[in-house]
Formats: sequence, C-alpha cells, structure tokens
Amino acid sequence: MLATCAAAGGQGDIHAIENAALAWRDGRITWVGPDAALPAEFASEERVFLGAAFGSSQLVIPGLIDCHTHLAFGGWRANEFVERIQGRTYQDIAAAGGGIASTVAQTHAISSEGLVDKCGRFLREMLWLGVTTVECKSGYGLTVDEELRLLRVYRDLAAAGPQRIVATLLGAHTVPPAMRDRREAYVDLVVNEMIPAAAREGLATCCDVFVERGAFTVEEARRILRAAREAGLAAKLHADQLSDGGGAALAAEVDAISADHLEHASDAGIAAMAKAGVVAVSLPLAAMYLGQRAMPARRFIAAGVPVAVASDFNPGSAPSYHLPLALTLACTMQRLTPAEALKGATLYAARAVGLDADIGSLEPGKRADFAVIDAPSVDQWLYHFRPNACRARFIGGATIS
Ligand code: NIG
Ligand code: FE
Repeated sequence: MLATCAAAGGQGDIHAIENAALAWRDGRITWVGPDAALPAEFASEERVFLGAAFGSSQLVIPGLIDCHTHLAFGGWRANEFVERIQGRTYQDIAAAGGGIASTVAQTHAISSEGLVDKCGRFLREMLWLGVTTVECKSGYGLTVDEELRLLRVYRDLAAAGPQRIVATLLGAHTVPPAMRDRREAYVDLVVNEMIPAAAREGLATCCDVFVERGAFTVEEARRILRAAREAGLAAKLHADQLSDGGGAALAAEVDAISADHLEHASDAGIAAMAKAGVVAVSLPLAAMYLGQRAMPARRFIAAGVPVAVASDFNPGSAPSYHLPLALTLACTMQRLTPAEALKGATLYAARAVGLDADIGSLEPGKRADFAVIDAPSVDQWLYHFRPNACRARFIGGATIS
C-alpha cells in the first residue's frame, strides 16, 4: 500500500493506493498510481521492486517530517527527569535555575564541532526511523553570537545531508538569567540584532517565540514576530503550553505558519487559527514526559485546523526524537486515527515549515522523499509499535543506506 497524503479531503484522508507504483526523475516524482495503470512510457525505466526486496506487505509513505525539534544542545538533564518523578514541576525546576538556563550553560561549553557531531548522530537515528526532513530550532544560546553559532551548526548539517533541515531562530526562548531585570533590552536585542543577522546570512527561514508565563508575553512576542515577518522569516510560536496565554490568537494575528503545543488553547484561539489557516503542531511526547494533558487535537480538527505531530525533541520536556512513537501517542492520547496522525507528520508538517509545495506528499512535481514501512497498512504500523518498522528511506529518489 502507498499513502500519497495529498491535501484533498482533510486530516484523515491519506489517499491509499493498493499495489502502487511511484515514478521519479531527477529527484522529483513524475507519476504515482496503481501499478496496473503505470503509463507505457515508464515501462523501460529502471525499476525497484519494494515488495520483493522487503516482503510483500510493505507500506510506502512520504518521508516523515519532524517539524519541531530543539536539536542542538550541550549536555543532558536526566537529573530533572528524576526530580519531576519525585514531585517537582517543570516550572519549579526552571525557577530554581534549572530547565532551559541549565542547557544554555551546557551549550555555551560545547564546541561547534562537538555540536555538529552530536546532532549528526541524532539525525542518523531519526533517518533510520524514516524521518527525512527535520526542523531545528536555536534557543540555547541566548546571545547574538551564540544563537548565530547554533544556526551555523544547522547550516553545516544541512550541507552535509542527507536530510533536509529547516532552521528556526528561537532567540526568544527565555530571557537569559543575566538579563532578567532588563527584559526589554533582551527583546530589543532579538529584534534589532538577532533577526536581522539571521536573515542577512540566510541562516534561518523561520522565527519562533516561547509565549508563556516565565518566558515572553503576548506583547513581546508580537513585536518579535512582526520584526521577523518584515525580515522575511515565517512566524512560529510555542503557545498555550502550560496555561492559556492568548498564544493561539496571536499566531492568527501575525499570520504564523504554525502554533505549537496548545495544550491549553481557548476556543476563541482555536477559531482564530482556523480562520487564519495556522497549522496546530501537537507534541505528545512533551505531554507524556511532563505528565500533562495532551493538546485537545479533536477540537482543532473539528474547527477546521490542520493538526501536525512532531517530537519537540529537547533535553528537558521531550528527550526523545522517536517520531513514530509520537504518532502512536497522538492516537492513544489525542484520539487521532493512524491515518490522521500520518497526515500530521507529512503534509501538515510540511505546511508547518513552509515547504508543502516541495515535500510532504507523494504527488507529481514533489521531491521523491519516501519511507518503506514493514506493515500492511497505516493502522497496523501505528498499532503494533516497534523499535523501528522502517525498512528503507529515499531522499530525492536516492536510497540512503
Ligand atoms: O518546547 N517550551 C519551551 N521549550 C521546550 C523545552 C525546552 C527545555 O526544557 O529545554 C519545549 O518544550
Ligand atoms: Fe519546543
């Protein structure tokens, strides 16, 4: 079976084709449909028989897109994982100097080569799971030089390939401890220096802000995201994760491509996102690790908001990049059907990073990025969770081994 994940029909419509054939040339798809209907012009082309190579009941899906990660960071925070088990909250730990600030200190201490090496190993394992595109946020630098350094790490990883990388400036992750009582000066720095420099050097295509009590207010985020839009960067938000702070409505107001988390979004915020066409990115691994309620995905879908699913990979709230696990959790914790979850990690994830003209579905004209999954259907794949069901991955038509 092949699931094209084309746009028509909405969240649950993955356009499955039995006994499918897929043709591509120069890295782009030229034809997809039932094998029996393959036009004669393709008959003489070199053919790869996936069923014969990997077993008869394989599933072909668009390459998975992890549209929300904080990939580059120094150290880890397993101590906080244990502290939370013992009763401390994410907010308590952050207020006491742990959390993001702890990772910022550990990130300053690691060289760029060390980061490229560490991230390269993460990316390799993600690729093995079928993830062919990864959005990567900065945000553990919090000075102009350090934020740009993290974005250059992503530039180097993108150049090394094989995965596609989408870099996002998250200079507004939190106010750095040294500037706690000068928050306005820090927002100035993001607006006047980080955004222009990242745009000038072509180091990022998106700009994100963490809108939350203890991070940035709606007013501060509005200022930052307007500056980002003016500099040509697409806007994204971490919104309404721990409380309803009006982040969803702001996403609609600034014409963001995505608002992410949204565990506590209000009905008015959801309606505004639907009207503005903002993608809601669900991050069920973070909800699982923090023992919090997951984003109410069905309310978003009912309101007409496309729901993407991503890992949120970071050393605090989501120390795993297992996107297929996130998809299974989206089914069990958020009542997405497996088909709805798949569309959330393909076409809608592509929209959430502004690349849906190029990737996210298997349709003529798009890149031949796809994964071969050892399951007869999407339902069977996400129901029978395994360490890794991916048998092969292709990027731009080239098989990656
Ligand atoms: O998406 N919410 C803010 N940022 C991350 C957590 C970062 C951290 O704890 O290091 C998130 O959950
Ligand atoms: Fe995040």
